[in-house]
Amino acid sequence: EKGGYKHFMIKEIYEQPRAVSDTISGNMAWFKGDVPLEGIDPTSFERIQIVACGTSFHAGLIAKFFFENFSQILTEVDYASEYRYRNPVVNGKTLVIAITQSGETADTLAAMRLARKKGAKLLAVCNVIGSTATREADTVIYTYAGPEISVASTKAFTTQLTALYMLSLWLGRENGVLKEEEVNARFSQLMEVPSKIEYFLGREKKEGNVKNIALEFYRSKDALYLGRHVNYPIALEGALKLKEISYIHAEGYPSGEMKHGPIALIDESVPVIFIATKGSVYEKVVSNMEEVKARKGKIIALLNPSSPEVERISDFKIEVPEVDEFLSPIVNVVPLQLFAYYIADFLGYDVDQPRNLAKSVTVE
Ligand code: M6R
Repeated sequence: EKGGYKHFMIKEIYEQPRAVSDTISGNMAWFKGDVPLEGIDPTSFERIQIVACGTSFHAGLIAKFFFENFSQILTEVDYASEYRYRNPVVNGKTLVIAITQSGETADTLAAMRLARKKGAKLLAVCNVIGSTATREADTVIYTYAGPEISVASTKAFTTQLTALYMLSLWLGRENGVLKEEEVNARFSQLMEVPSKIEYFLGREKKEGNVKNIALEFYRSKDALYLGRHVNYPIALEGALKLKEISYIHAEGYPSGEMKHGPIALIDESVPVIFIATKGSVYEKVVSNMEEVKARKGKIIALLNPSSPEVERISDFKIEVPEVDEFLSPIVNVVPLQLFAYYIADFLGYDVDQPRNLAKSVTVE
């Protein structure tokens, strides 16, 4: 059932163009306004609270940018395990969005129940039909990733981002924040994402660039992932992937925070993975790269074509297709998934079933 792939994880990474595209079409009816998003009055919310764990939490951190930019709704993001014990401020004008691939994560369900008690509207973004989260929420937006078997989440994440992006545009349009033309333009950009991922994966299959870089670094003891803005959570996600399947210590940081501490970690033995694709913080990221270079860190850069500043500074380059900045996380995470995968495989670990981890964490 691995369809010729060595592990489920790599199969699921390669399924992402299809999964993202199915998520777009599966959510088209409410997005276009052909059917209502049941139980949700888009003009009634003063704030959004997102609750989730692990990779789904990282999707939430990115969704905050979507909701604040496109819907102009104040958005908070919490680990479900923290939210449930922190007496959050919630009322009838709060939309609580639980992001959960499995729909069975104990902390996320507990956070939902607390929000319900306090009077919030509950929306679940979920991949499993009939799961507990989908039964308990007022409204469900499904991701159409198909079954995700690998413990390390990949296609669930990119499809969550897809669904959340659509929701933010929908809320923005319904609230009068976004004009129809802007919604259409942004939606067309989203429609191009599957083929951009497909292009990247096709080239990797032929050229093995990420695999070769993984071969250089699989003996590392530590790794640092740095990004800013919507790609800061991608730094966190890249680090989580590496930790959970290769057992290499990794940290994700906003690159502007480096000089407040983590820069002390840098020497020639530590790979530093920079997400340096084009966007509003491109120049800022380049200057953070200079800081690392000055301390002899080994720089692996994710970059778009024609980025001479990044090319000049980096030791290893992973070129990804350019997309709008807000959509770039969906593309940029893919090479980081592959990087973690190849490192774990080179180390001979059980990629799909890492030690100490379960696919869904149904106990607290
Ligand atoms: O099923 P959920 O989305 O609620 O799961 C949340 C986390 O347990 C999950 O994303 C976990 O962090 C993954 N193993 C990460 O790859």
